[in-house]
Amino acid sequence: MPERFPASLQQKIEDRLRYYEDLGIRLFYTDRGPGGTTLVAPEPIASVSSSAPIIEETVLPKPTTKPAPAKVAPVAPPPLVVHPTGPSLFETMGKVKDETLLNIREDLGDCTRCKLHKGRNKIVFGDGNPKAELVFVGEGPGADEDAQGLPFVGRAGKLLTQMIEAMGLQRKDVYICNVVKCRPPENRAPEPDEVTACSPFLIRQIDSIRPKVIVCLGATAAKTILNTTRGISQFRGEWLEWRGHKLMATYHPAYLLRNPPAKADVWKDLQKVMAELGLQLPKKSKS
Ligand code: URA
Repeated sequence: MPERFPASLQQKIEDRLRYYEDLGIRLFYTDRGPGGTTLVAPEPIASVSSSAPIIEETVLPKPTTKPAPAKVAPVAPPPLVVHPTGPSLFETMGKVKDETLLNIREDLGDCTRCKLHKGRNKIVFGDGNPKAELVFVGEGPGADEDAQGLPFVGRAGKLLTQMIEAMGLQRKDVYICNVVKCRPPENRAPEPDEVTACSPFLIRQIDSIRPKVIVCLGATAAKTILNTTRGISQFRGEWLEWRGHKLMATYHPAYLLRNPPAKADVWKDLQKVMAELGLQLPKKSKS
């Protein structure tokens, strides 16, 4: 993007355009002048790969019979481009149609959008069935996940695996991901700017998978996704709605390791999820 503004404003605009691009929004209205509203595509931002060409055809303004009076234009206008067949801004708002998890992973790239990239070993994008009916969302990778590039593979992850198996499922049947994809230092909670940078990817993952049910693991994931300051115990185990999906928050497996009696509450929550998905309790094998 050519420099047209003070550097700090330029940076803010670039960050905001990158955020929209991460959400899959690539067309913007601008120039409400006498020629009407036109659509422009933001110029690609260097660190974001945009594999799908959105703008296919440049439409030049129709010649008018009278030559327009010469105007002094201090700044060259952005190119006039429209996409004749592509999605409108409103169709793409918040949802990119038919994206695969692979496309989204490619877009994420070797991400440096927030400061968490500085301390990470591996990006932990997510793992499991891209068509899962059930998605678990945790807070962010810990040390084991950061080392392996896979979500929930440490102690808390082993407990999550047991919980999934108790539901009669296997890890490969569900999809598991986190609010942020890089490990926060010292396992602290992700900070708002980190969540803001990463959230488009979580939204796109969920929109791509289209699960019947999302289970938020722990207060951070639940409060972040639901944008609430209420304590998790106030809404744990309740059915909520988020972007057209049924969502339930329950305690994080790491909390259960510290507080095993809370496992009973989580099991109640997971039984509601099983009922919603039409799952039966696995039969005990006869010994
Ligand atoms: N805790 C989380 O919230 N996510 C992980 O992937 C691992 C531990």
